[in-house]
Amino acid sequence: MSEEKLEYIVENKPCLVSLKAGKKYAWCTCKHSKEQPFCDGSHKGTDMKPKVFTADKDEDVLLCACKATQSGPYCDGAHNNLEEVYAEATQVEIESMKSSLFVERSKGEFGKANLDSGAYVLTPSENDNKTVGNLSYQPVIAKEDGASKLSLHRMTISEGTTPWLRYSDVDTVLYIVDGKGHVDIAGTKIDISKETGVYIRPDEAFRITANSDMTLFAAVCPMKTELLITDDNRTSFQNDYPDRKVEFDMAKTNVMANRFYQELVDKKIGSNEVTQFIGEVPLSRAAMHRHLYEEAIVILTGYGRMWTGTKWADVKVGDVLFLPHRQGHSLECTAEEGMRLMGVFYPSGSPAINY
Ligand code: FES
Repeated sequence: MSEEKLEYIVENKPCLVSLKAGKKYAWCTCKHSKEQPFCDGSHKGTDMKPKVFTADKDEDVLLCACKATQSGPYCDGAHNNLEEVYAEATQVEIESMKSSLFVERSKGEFGKANLDSGAYVLTPSENDNKTVGNLSYQPVIAKEDGASKLSLHRMTISEGTTPWLRYSDVDTVLYIVDGKGHVDIAGTKIDISKETGVYIRPDEAFRITANSDMTLFAAVCPMKTELLITDDNRTSFQNDYPDRKVEFDMAKTNVMANRFYQELVDKKIGSNEVTQFIGEVPLSRAAMHRHLYEEAIVILTGYGRMWTGTKWADVKVGDVLFLPHRQGHSLECTAEEGMRLMGVFYPSGSPAINY
């Protein structure tokens, strides 16, 4: 039987499945099973066969239902490109959220707007900074905020060199929002400028030299809020990981329907715990979706709204968004010129994988 003659059953989203260690599964490849994402025998009479695999651990995973993945049985985000437009909120979804509660910031124009299930939008205030030399910093995502995997510090640096900084035992991923200078990672100097991601290995100290005012974010994974500040470098650069810097480059972006993203710091330079990306969102309202990872987003340009089900808040340049894993959310861009954002999440993976 040819494929065209069969009923075409396909979902544009993956299925969340709890795998059991040692159990065998048959993932449907023919698109016709009514038991997606698994085989129900509907391929009989075709030359298609299910892909059989054994789970090596108990794990919640997203298995592809659209069958466009190149990494079957797992979703690789290819479902986002099945339509020309990224999955947008339907009229029904928009109507259902009309009664959502608008949440204001806790301190006038600054502070947190607490959304559903621990998600929030934060507008940082310089008044909450701690200052050491030419470095001012504040945690914007921490354990106290409900995060369990990821922490994020916002740093501002005036001209000059900071003391040595370190988050012991964990990966640190920097994102330079503005400014120019260099980062010295345990004795190795790397030039940095706007829209650059930098990867710092566990147990490496770093210090930053700013040529003029610089703003950056330091994501630390797994969770570690304490920033150790010392006068000297007591660590050494790990030469097994020579590449530490990834710059935003339009030529290297991945297209996802009518938006795009580029992974900056990720596995390709040794960051196995955390993924950092930069993304561009057009004037649009995304359909409500979820990720299996805990995520931080920083708005770099543009403005809009974050919807999380029963609540929403406005978002603008400089705001930080925190999304616990599996929290439903929809980011709406209301700026004609679009919105650019930096995201960082744990555990690592692809920002295109959602459900
Ligand atoms: S559901 Fe097929 S790639 Fe995501």
